[in-house]
Amino acid sequence: MAKKLFIQTNGCQMNEYDSDKMRDVLQASHGMEITEIPEEADVLLLNTCSIREKAQEKVFSAVGRWRKIKNKRPNIIIGVGGCVASQEGAAIQKRAPYVDIVFGPQTLHRLPELLDEVRETHNRVVDISFPEIEKFDALPEPRAEGPKAFVSIMEGCSKYCTFCVVPYTRGEEISRPLKDVIAEISVLAEQGVREINLLGQNVNAYRGEMDDEETADFSLLLHYVAAVDGIDRIRFTTSHPAEFTDEIIEAFAEIPELVNHLHLPVQSGSNNILTQMKRGYNREQYLEIMNKVKAVRPGISLSSDFIIGFPGETEEEFEDTLSLIEQVGFDFSYSFIYSARPGTPAAELADDISEDVKKQRLSKLKARLDQMTMDVSKSMVGTVQTVLVEGVSKKSPLQMTGRTENNRVVNFTAHPRLAGQFVDVMITEALPNSLRGRLLDSSVDKILNS
Ligand code: SAH
Ligand code: F3S
Repeated sequence: MAKKLFIQTNGCQMNEYDSDKMRDVLQASHGMEITEIPEEADVLLLNTCSIREKAQEKVFSAVGRWRKIKNKRPNIIIGVGGCVASQEGAAIQKRAPYVDIVFGPQTLHRLPELLDEVRETHNRVVDISFPEIEKFDALPEPRAEGPKAFVSIMEGCSKYCTFCVVPYTRGEEISRPLKDVIAEISVLAEQGVREINLLGQNVNAYRGEMDDEETADFSLLLHYVAAVDGIDRIRFTTSHPAEFTDEIIEAFAEIPELVNHLHLPVQSGSNNILTQMKRGYNREQYLEIMNKVKAVRPGISLSSDFIIGFPGETEEEFEDTLSLIEQVGFDFSYSFIYSARPGTPAAELADDISEDVKKQRLSKLKARLDQMTMDVSKSMVGTVQTVLVEGVSKKSPLQMTGRTENNRVVNFTAHPRLAGQFVDVMITEALPNSLRGRLLDSSVDKILNS
């Protein structure tokens, strides 16, 4: 009988992507099958996140629960991967000796060997090295699950923002060769994928090797991706304002497949805080990028990440963030309270803002962002949106669910056969977390006649 694999994923989309790859390698090497029930798994993997303190704390509570399973079934194997593994290494097994394998984001392709080693020697193993781009060469062919797919184009980050742990856990920026990325996307498109989300910690630092020893930058990559047959929607996560070139802005003018949505993390609206964060741009430069993008794509939905309570942030500096929000006008965004990460330069700074003040600032910021999100949703009512149909709605079997270009979930009555297709939907109602709509007959006729 096939051995069963349980994977718990914490953190970012990159981790989601990596977890899918863990499943794929172990399926290819050991014929393992995914289970949703930890108690029946032979191998349990935890893909961890260390971006903020709360994320990090989850690790030992999760593996602690698995220990009980192992007490009953001592032959099961427990592995911890991802960014906490990368940072802590063997220290994880010091605290939790029942963890058999510790592996990093760049060594997940070695899981089959690590697993065999544990089974043969009954020793605990650790491999958290950064073997360049070897990971991608060792992965099996991608398999599409529905009409959307993630494709990693680069790994790591070399920006070293003073608050951020990513460069230490995922290593320096390294890009996959252009032809590898395009080959993966073509395989997915042949399996019915219509929307690609290009993944990287810092996608606009992409420098992909080409056959003629030239390098493709991110804007050139976008043109290549758009040219793949079947790919009609392109997203990317995440780009950085410091390398948001005019070529990328022009790409929004030239490439209709690029969605009308841009997520560009700003973190703060204060120039002093931006300097202390070592972000490499100032408020004025960020606003200039956003204005240029709006000029080539009127009505584009813009979103961002914000950090509140960076060490020393004054009330006035926080107000600068609020005023930046008013100036840009954001759609659904993420905001976080600053969390000191061990080993980062900002962790050395005196953090004299009280928790109360941080919480107040966060709730003020969130309230304004939520209001803006709701305003965007309301403004969509009465408009016709292109929706990529993902499947039957979880809430009602008669409803189909899909997403608009600005990533809103839309539920509407339609035939399940429309899954995987683009349809036109008139938005009829804005709810807090989704939209309701009515399918336009004309768009169904188009599909049936094509
Ligand atoms: N390059 C990635 C960054 C990943 S971290 C990106 O641009 O999306 C995702 C977000 O987490 C960051 O944009 C930042 O807003 C937040 N973040 C990172 N480190 C943090 C910290 N130490 N405390 C609080 N939030 C943090
Ligand atoms: Fe982190 Fe800054 Fe890179 S937020 S991922 S160091 S761009």
